[in-house]
Amino acid sequence: MLQLILFGPPGAGKGTQAQALVEHFKFVHLSTGDLLRAEIAAQTALGLEAKRFIDAGELVPDETVIGMIRILLDRIDTVPGVIYDGFPRTVAQAKELDKMLTSCKEGITALLSLEVPHDELVKRLLLRGESSGRTDDTDIATIENRISVYEAKTQPLIDYYTQLGKYHPIAGVGTIQEISQRLISDVDKL
Ligand code: C5P
Ligand code: MG
Repeated sequence: MLQLILFGPPGAGKGTQAQALVEHFKFVHLSTGDLLRAEIAAQTALGLEAKRFIDAGELVPDETVIGMIRILLDRIDTVPGVIYDGFPRTVAQAKELDKMLTSCKEGITALLSLEVPHDELVKRLLLRGESSGRTDDTDIATIENRISVYEAKTQPLIDYYTQLGKYHPIAGVGTIQEISQRLISDVDKL
């Protein structure tokens, strides 16, 4: 089973491109950000706890998101593949994911990394904030903090997966369709 991490900074287009891959390959999409927002909408204890971090542009603690992924992976049967979107976000989360997958004789196939310049990210996030109403997309200071947190805590995953020979950089600029085509042809080769 293909186990793909759709990787990149906030605003790189992970959610959008995950949908294109799901349509094309019938993969299962695991978005920790979407799950957290659903918990917030349902006003669960987890959601209320997570909201504080999300509104500040900070990361929800490792144990919380790892717990969410663990529950989901237990429920997945045979599918052509799984796309992780927004997870792992720290090296600790990546190591824990490796352990979970090894225990069911699986492993990460590739880190598909959408590469997008900083100014383009800010532009996209502000635009998304206008239509989505996502509070973490409307405030420029929160956006910049999310990008800084990405650089400090999430970007080191590139080294981690490069050492495992699994890092696949993909140009994340151009039209949505152009980027989908790049991803699809990369996945076709796996
Ligand atoms: O992945 P996405 O950009 O939708 O996540 C939105 C916010 O949710 C992040 O900025 C972060 O605050 C939180 N999050 C997290 N850990 C994850 C996924 C999302 O802290 N694994
Ligand atoms: Mg997203």
